[in-house]
Amino acid sequence: MNTQVKNNIVTGKPLDRVDGRLKVTGAAHYSAEIPMQNIAYAALIGSTIARGSIKTIDTSVAEKSPGVLAILTHLNAPKFVKLSTFATGGAGAENRIPLSDGTIYHSGQYIGVVIADTFEQATHAANLVRVSYEEKSPITDIESQRERAILPKGKVGFTKEADTMRGDIEQGLAQAEVRIEQTYITPTEHHNPMEPHATTAVWEGDKLTVYDATQYTFGVRKSLADGFGIPEENVRVVCNFIGGAFGCKGNMWSHVPLAALAARSVQRPVKLVLTRQQMFTGVGHRAETEQKITLGATKDGRLTALAHKGISHTCEEALGEFVEPFTVATHMLYACPNLQTSQRIVRLNKGQPTFMRAPGEAPGTYALEAALDELAYALKLDPIELRLRNHADIDPDSNRPWSSKSLKECYQLGAEKFGWARRNPEPRSMRDGRYLIGMGMATATYPVYRFGASAIARMMQDGSVVVQSGSHEMGTGTATVMAQLAADALGMPFEQVRFELGDTKMPRAPVSGGSATVASVGTAVEGATKAVRAKVLEMAREDKRSPFYNVAETDIAIQDGKILHKTDATKSETYADILKRQNMPQVEASFDAKFDEANNKFSMHSFGAQFAEVRIDPDLGEVRVTRFVGAFGTGRIMNYKTARSQMLGGIVMGIGMALHEETITDLQTGRIVNASLGEYHVPVNADIPAIEPYFVEEIDPHVNPMGAKGVGEISITGVAAAVANAVYHATGKRVRDLPITPDKLL
Ligand code: MOS
Repeated sequence: MNTQVKNNIVTGKPLDRVDGRLKVTGAAHYSAEIPMQNIAYAALIGSTIARGSIKTIDTSVAEKSPGVLAILTHLNAPKFVKLSTFATGGAGAENRIPLSDGTIYHSGQYIGVVIADTFEQATHAANLVRVSYEEKSPITDIESQRERAILPKGKVGFTKEADTMRGDIEQGLAQAEVRIEQTYITPTEHHNPMEPHATTAVWEGDKLTVYDATQYTFGVRKSLADGFGIPEENVRVVCNFIGGAFGCKGNMWSHVPLAALAARSVQRPVKLVLTRQQMFTGVGHRAETEQKITLGATKDGRLTALAHKGISHTCEEALGEFVEPFTVATHMLYACPNLQTSQRIVRLNKGQPTFMRAPGEAPGTYALEAALDELAYALKLDPIELRLRNHADIDPDSNRPWSSKSLKECYQLGAEKFGWARRNPEPRSMRDGRYLIGMGMATATYPVYRFGASAIARMMQDGSVVVQSGSHEMGTGTATVMAQLAADALGMPFEQVRFELGDTKMPRAPVSGGSATVASVGTAVEGATKAVRAKVLEMAREDKRSPFYNVAETDIAIQDGKILHKTDATKSETYADILKRQNMPQVEASFDAKFDEANNKFSMHSFGAQFAEVRIDPDLGEVRVTRFVGAFGTGRIMNYKTARSQMLGGIVMGIGMALHEETITDLQTGRIVNASLGEYHVPVNADIPAIEPYFVEEIDPHVNPMGAKGVGEISITGVAAAVANAVYHATGKRVRDLPITPDKLL
């Protein structure tokens, strides 16, 4: 393992995506596009009420409709044995087994599935099923339930208690010379990836293959195996491409077992694709939050007290519990001796919320960073200076040192690139003709997560290498980055390495979530490729015919696929030479990456600084983001092109959170009234200005062998606050509930 590799390093280079051509030519098959003989189509029937139960369900007309093969309802569906959730190694989102009874917990809950020869026949027949309900008035808003808010059963963000205290909050507030206390509201939001969830299920005897749009092939496999009471080896889950996910594909939702049940019922492969409307009711959402922030500070801007308390909604108990962990970042972001956090939940008939890009940090940093902006004004202090005065030099939550942190550099670089110095801090002081101009900033942060992962590397006789891990390509660049890592570990040209993913036949990979894929799968890929390299070199060093016979490992160097002697230029061969000479068709090695978080001496987080400029029409209240700069310290960058794209995407999503995105529920019926991309507003090109993401070079030897911290989620954090703070700066009006729509400014 001591061999020196002097490859023409490709890790970090802005290489094009290896799957780019496949995707733009349509050659990439997504989960709804797997070519298959004799396939049947499933259509889901959704409940039109949000709470109550089914009185009658009449399928007689639908059954006679052309092409219909079967209709499953709670009255006749073969039962799934159990639903394994994350806690038990599966991926089930809801505890409830679909179609297990006639009780209704939210609008759009699946109450039946129609299987037919064609998609159109299935969809038509689904509309012919007649249902009558015993309807109860649904519980749909936090407002009416505030008194009934309850303590979450589980932890907040996996590790935190719902109520925490550091120091003494009362004492901290007593010491304060300036206080801010405000409540901030974020609405329900939906992930809205371009690719809808889709499942194609195929049974061969008691063996099930599922092509599923998922961020967690192995979790889906476990849940399906447990659900059908068959061994995990009998279930194969494949997902080669994902058209965006943002967290909604991290769980297995009810349509997946329903597709598999449907395929078994009709003894044919079945394809089930969610409609865009069903993407709003069946695959989770970001919960609404109501967050109260109390800040106490001395006149010179040192925080003496920080309290972050609030409520988010969750689903009815029968489905489970998801707590949007909006207080998690508050524990560690600033050095404040007295800190209190508290989270409560209310149970609504809105279905189960779930992870959505930076769950917790995205809404949490909106509230905290908006409150800090209010404090900066109260203190007449520059917002960056206020944050610098409260910079946490060590993690104030765990008292551990940071593995690396370059937040100060991010503030500096971001401010410089943005032109923060040009900002006149006085609200409503900057104009461009009749438009009001505002500049705002906020801190970004996200943890470095690492999960166990495995990979196998196979070197073929021609010297090419295939590396596999059952991970996922969500559009983030995983396939490209893993091949880059492998090429550098082997010291060979990028073109000779292929990385394959998305199949439970491959070595086990964790959920592609928590921005942890490079840290987790990357560690396994690097381990496996280095192990195969060592095996092949060992073959040479033990082979009398090799120029490297008996040569010390430390005297061997590898460059661009050539094995070289460090001091003897006459000695050289290739990996292929070694395998051919020994007549080995291939050599392989595996690696299991494990991380001991319990004994981690460091606190591992990414940090960044977000800067927004807005231009507001004072007569119309229309907000346009005109410039956006983000500076991030996220460890080593694996590929500047794909990493930059991640930052662009997160910032776009953050601008959507600030100005556009909101799922609106009819409070009377519990139905979502804007369940389409026409009426749920995500930013379009015209909404997005030039975005400039920058990376602060960071060397972090502690996070993983690559020194990469993950770039998926940090980019959305702080964005909404930066925009909201810019809106205040432009107008002098503080809007404390997102999104900041024109009506709120007039
Ligand atoms: Mo992400 S919300 O961890 O898929």
